[in-house]
Amino acid sequence: MENQRPSWTSRGAFILAAVGSAVGLGNIWRFPYIMGQNGGAAFLVVYLLLILTVCFVPLVAELAMGKTTKRECIGAFESVNPKLKTIGALNPITGILIMAFYFVVGGWILNYICLGFAKCEITNYAQYFSNFTQDAYSNCIFTLLFLFICVLFTARGIKKGIEFANNVLMPMFAVILLFLIISSLQLPNAHLGLEYMFKPDFSKINPHMFLTALGQALFTLSIGMGAMLTYGSYIKDDRSITKSAYTIIFSDTLFALMAGIMIFPAIFSFGLEPDSGAGLVFVTLPYIFAQIPYGNLLLAAFFILLMAAAVTSGISMLEVSVAAFTERMNMSRQKACLYIFIIISALAIPATLSFGLLSKFSIFGKSVFDFLDFATSNLLMPLNAFFICIITGWLMNIEGKMFVQNKLVAKLFDTGLRFVVPAILLGLLYVGLK
Ligand code: PHE
Repeated sequence: MENQRPSWTSRGAFILAAVGSAVGLGNIWRFPYIMGQNGGAAFLVVYLLLILTVCFVPLVAELAMGKTTKRECIGAFESVNPKLKTIGALNPITGILIMAFYFVVGGWILNYICLGFAKCEITNYAQYFSNFTQDAYSNCIFTLLFLFICVLFTARGIKKGIEFANNVLMPMFAVILLFLIISSLQLPNAHLGLEYMFKPDFSKINPHMFLTALGQALFTLSIGMGAMLTYGSYIKDDRSITKSAYTIIFSDTLFALMAGIMIFPAIFSFGLEPDSGAGLVFVTLPYIFAQIPYGNLLLAAFFILLMAAAVTSGISMLEVSVAAFTERMNMSRQKACLYIFIIISALAIPATLSFGLLSKFSIFGKSVFDFLDFATSNLLMPLNAFFICIITGWLMNIEGKMFVQNKLVAKLFDTGLRFVVPAILLGLLYVGLK
């Protein structure tokens, strides 16, 4: 079995895929609106602090668990102790629940790409967004289409599918992003947006901000649903995990900052409010594009960028379940992809209908879409990350000195893995459940 497992063609291929997983809607859609709702630069300071210290630990632990066990998610837990199988299964389950809402946003993106090319004159994007998200038929089609695109790449396997998608989409993503940043920085009063991002008002820092920042950091680094574990299981033995973890964190943060530098100057230039929430890139940004020359094309370029980022993340989410299905049930990749396509469709369709047909239906007071987002980001991902820390730290005896030369850093890592980070994650869970 071990010999038949695929592995990355090179260290670069792994890094690109892992960065492709991390950089996604979390960076371009979620990060700017969460930062906008939490006071700009002060939030950024807290976020950077957490992502560079606390999040480093579970990221290394997840990669290490994959690399040492060389098994898919459930098998990795099982190899530590057969009783842990159920805990391992929580990872693909979390992934499936994330995909059910993530791919709905993917569907919105496809719709906006068509909109950019269709050159239609829309004056009220808030109205357009609300009407569109209520339209059951086109939402379902676009969501399924987005899912289908991700499944197609995944079905082709590690080298021909996942590596290929990342090799093509990630550079395309970076080029479009740079182009949009340059356009945005040339707008009048662009410096106001930069000040908002980088001049912190420390009086805005509050405890809730730490929780929001930590939840966002886990989500954006793809920690707590098995994606990094599964990608880590395809790493060849001689490659350093800590260096990879630094590169992933650094690149992910860089892309989030670049997304901010693209969005906030434009928002301030047009005198708009940065705290409009989840609609920031679907309502506020198109409104801005509508006022500038070649705005339609820029709109299409922006949403193609978003699509590229979302597809490479979507592929990594799919891979967790695909690896589990193929390796545990001895199934072909294509067949596994077909089953997973059916399962996710069954969950994503109710999520797409949350804004229209099923808007009256609620789970614990939330729409299906909001419930899936909440249950995964605030509960299941911290819970899975907690288990990974405990299992690698206490049962697998993973130690800092295995990866880092510096004794002090190794010691800090050990304390972080066994005590500090699990405690912080439990705190996050507690507040999430309250
Ligand atoms: N990190 C991805 C993003 O920022 C989302 C993701 C979460 C991907 C979990 C894989 C696993 O969009």
